[in-house]
Amino acid sequence: MKIKGSILNFWMDILSNIPNIGKHSLMVSALSYLIGLEFFGGEDRASFCGVGGMLHDIGFIVPRFSESMYTIREIYAVLDTIHGEDSSLFTAHTTIGGYILSNFLKLNQYSDVAFYHHTPASELDPSEFTHIVANIVGAADIISLHAEKMELSVAREVIPDIIRMNKHVLFPEVFEATLTAISKDYTWWAMEDPRFFFVNNVIPVITREAQEKTPVEDLIEMGHFTSYIVDTRSPFTRKHSERIAVLSKDLGEELGLPENVQTELYIAGLFHDIGKVAVNLSILEKPGPLTKSEFWRMRKHVFYTEVFLRYFRDEGYRWPIWAAQHHERLDGSGYPKRLTAKDLSIQSRILQVADVFVAFTEERPYRNALPNEAALSAIRKEVDAGRLDAYVFEALERLIKNGYTFPEKTMTEEIIDSVKFLLESMEG
Ligand SMILES: [Fe+2]
Ligand SMILES: [Fe+2]
Ligand SMILES: [Fe+2]
Ligand SMILES: [Fe+2]
Repeated sequence: MKIKGSILNFWMDILSNIPNIGKHSLMVSALSYLIGLEFFGGEDRASFCGVGGMLHDIGFIVPRFSESMYTIREIYAVLDTIHGEDSSLFTAHTTIGGYILSNFLKLNQYSDVAFYHHTPASELDPSEFTHIVANIVGAADIISLHAEKMELSVAREVIPDIIRMNKHVLFPEVFEATLTAISKDYTWWAMEDPRFFFVNNVIPVITREAQEKTPVEDLIEMGHFTSYIVDTRSPFTRKHSERIAVLSKDLGEELGLPENVQTELYIAGLFHDIGKVAVNLSILEKPGPLTKSEFWRMRKHVFYTEVFLRYFRDEGYRWPIWAAQHHERLDGSGYPKRLTAKDLSIQSRILQVADVFVAFTEERPYRNALPNEAALSAIRKEVDAGRLDAYVFEALERLIKNGYTFPEKTMTEEIIDSVKFLLESMEG
């Protein structure tokens, strides 16, 4: 199945910004692309390798609930801890990664790459395209793990020998393609600036044929994947994005907005906190008041949200604007741009109210969840102070009065349940 360039572009961006995984993923991605180019000779297949490289360690993005993960300081696993010491999670990350990707239509073509990237060639099928890509990514992974520990000018001298030592885990043609790729200065310079390389070299290849607008169904699926990545990090937010999506959509309906706008409100909700992937967990989960500088870091997530969603804004969608404005306030006291009422559409106002309501009714490390009534009266104060929209608030009051309930389980929670089950069965 073909994926639109904007989507791939987006995955690169979101993954490369995750602390601890980002740099490694980018490097493996750039290398996989270049080895793939040697192997296949065409940029299309090479870019498949590049994306596979970007996603290969996605299985490290796991919810924190298992004993086997006690060594992980961040939910986005610390790679040097994992690659080596904690062997149970190390083995698990390929299974989990393959599983997570298989849940998403557009990503399941990369599921095998995550699943097999540490599997030796002797156990792979050379007639399967994805197995070859997994092996290429495996080669890139070996190189990256060694190269990250030294100057690349030194690495380029010693890594050919490391690859020769690993010859037995690679297909003969992958072995050759890898040696050819790393014999070129070009490859090392790409690895030294993998983001620069991607943005200017790989992404144009990927986006070449994809100029049309990303379909709404694709956005919803990407939104669910994004919600998983964002919300799984903290046990306090596992319903967050999806609840805001549902509530925003329902508020849109209550206010009589057209159906396509309701759908875009739903999408805005799924993506609104995407910028949190770039915020450290120690800040997101701090069990007490944040210091001034921590609060500054925390608030920055909306800056990232706006930048992340740029592609979709360029495609003519308006939901990225609403998503990025969920912390703005009508009186100009919000962030990141201190917008005021005249700049804030009804849709942005809906996101603002939905975000506040959902946040109040969720538990936080430093307080209990508020009951609906208490949440409403807290929001009423904001409305009276001229910060949140009165019209949207009234719609929310009506919904709650009529016994509004959220869906029992979010997709994020369902995936988390399955991952938990997988981990437990592996621990046996
Ligand atoms: Fe891995
Ligand atoms: Fe890796
Ligand atoms: Fe937010
Ligand atoms: Fe939020």
